[in-house]
Amino acid sequence: MNNKETFEKTKKLLKKHNQSHLLAFWEQLNASQRRNLLAQIEKLDFAEIDGWVADYVKKSAAAPVPVNFAPPPFYSLNPVGPGQKRKYNQAIELGRELISAGKVAAFVVAGGQGTRLGFDGPKGNFPISPVKNKTLFRIFAEIIAAVSEKYQTVCPWYIMTSPLNHDETKEIFRSNGYYGLNEKDVFIFQQGTLPSFNLDGKIFLADKDCIACSPDGHGGSLKALYKSGAIEDMKRRGVEFISYLQVDNPLINIFDPLFIGLHALDEAEMSSKAVIKTGPKERVGNFGLVDGRVTVVEYSDLPDELAEKQNPDGSSVFRLGSVAIHIINRTFVEKLNAGGFVLPLHRAVKEIPHIDQHGNFVEPDGPNSVKLESFVFDALPLASKSIILETLRSEEFAPVKNAAGVDSVESAKEMIVARGAAWLESAGAAVPRKPDSSVDCLIEIAPSFALEKDDIKTKLCKIPEIKPMDRVYLA
Ligand code: UD1
Repeated sequence: MNNKETFEKTKKLLKKHNQSHLLAFWEQLNASQRRNLLAQIEKLDFAEIDGWVADYVKKSAAAPVPVNFAPPPFYSLNPVGPGQKRKYNQAIELGRELISAGKVAAFVVAGGQGTRLGFDGPKGNFPISPVKNKTLFRIFAEIIAAVSEKYQTVCPWYIMTSPLNHDETKEIFRSNGYYGLNEKDVFIFQQGTLPSFNLDGKIFLADKDCIACSPDGHGGSLKALYKSGAIEDMKRRGVEFISYLQVDNPLINIFDPLFIGLHALDEAEMSSKAVIKTGPKERVGNFGLVDGRVTVVEYSDLPDELAEKQNPDGSSVFRLGSVAIHIINRTFVEKLNAGGFVLPLHRAVKEIPHIDQHGNFVEPDGPNSVKLESFVFDALPLASKSIILETLRSEEFAPVKNAAGVDSVESAKEMIVARGAAWLESAGAAVPRKPDSSVDCLIEIAPSFALEKDDIKTKLCKIPEIKPMDRVYLA
């Protein structure tokens, strides 16, 4: 087909789907801009887009929570009864074997914008450790290096970026020498994007030859892992389990033998860790069971009466919060992609800069656009089996989301110090504390020193003497 024919065909298609404005500046474009624009339009499936506009853009209500949303079964922090105790021990053994055999990979989703933090650049480059100011990426890299050393194996690391931060992320890794890891064991790839819409369902133009797009949500990782060749790379290496984490959690225990082992023993396809929520409205996903399938409902979609529903003992019925930590089988991702799976989309109303019908650049001063995203936890009900393991917030979950207040830089630093203090105290050290029992010094334990509490006892040759206001770094 020649250019003219392609243009006429595209024009017709856009007219049919109410998106003719995408070609409004055609006459002003040079040949390469025209090719560029047509290539972007060609990638869009307009029948699908019509469905999105009807279901998500023009409708503002989230899909209702199924009426049979029920509390799910879960493995509690400590095993219940001797049978389960044996199972936990067996799981830890198995988890260790799987890690040693190189069957577990780390996978961080780092394609988000991190707007709430107000940090310019990839969030993984945010400095967070209390003494050495290590960035999130460096902390994860050091965990991976320490696990590889402890288990005498190579744990590969997969990192998903988005067009917003891909080049910058690659440069950060390059200029930091891959944080001491082998470059060939670090696989950085990009997620997909989806067009942004105005509130009437028209796709925005970012420029005269460019459609406004944003990352397709962390649910996009399940496609991007496959498309990018990451899954193929895992297969070649013999990786069977993907340890999924978000970029914002410096307390993450990426290779947890108990979690990996329970998931494998139960022959699950995608599993999750959970914490007991701080209150009914904590801003985390809520675990439930729908038709026997583990399902997560985001806090913003959980009706108040469910969030506040109580058991006879006063505890919340839906008290398990998602910390966005999962084990995903490589074969589950392969199966989903072979079957052409579709995750539901979620809408977020955002401020998106764009050009108007006259070609003038518009920097909105309020929400003007609908951004669509898929969420990785929506794949849980597609798994043939899915387990939930409760974990301790103080050990594993300190998300850095906001500049101040809850889930902030300050709270995450305090939690890193508090965990370090608890680990040292368990080994017999005296940690200075303030009258309110908070730690009165700074403590940072490098992953090379201890990956978990029990490592401390074996590593600590001499109990350190810690004075108030000290800055303690153990490496
Ligand atoms: C998320 C979860 C919430 C969970 C909480 C735990 C959602 C919708 N909610 O909340 O259930 O309890 O974390 O901390 O995810 N990302 C991408 N690409 C994207 C979008 C996001 O890679 O297109 C990554 C981000 O870089 C980040 C992670 O996904 O690592 C989470 O994104 P974010 O938007 O911060 O989720 P939260 O709303 O904080």
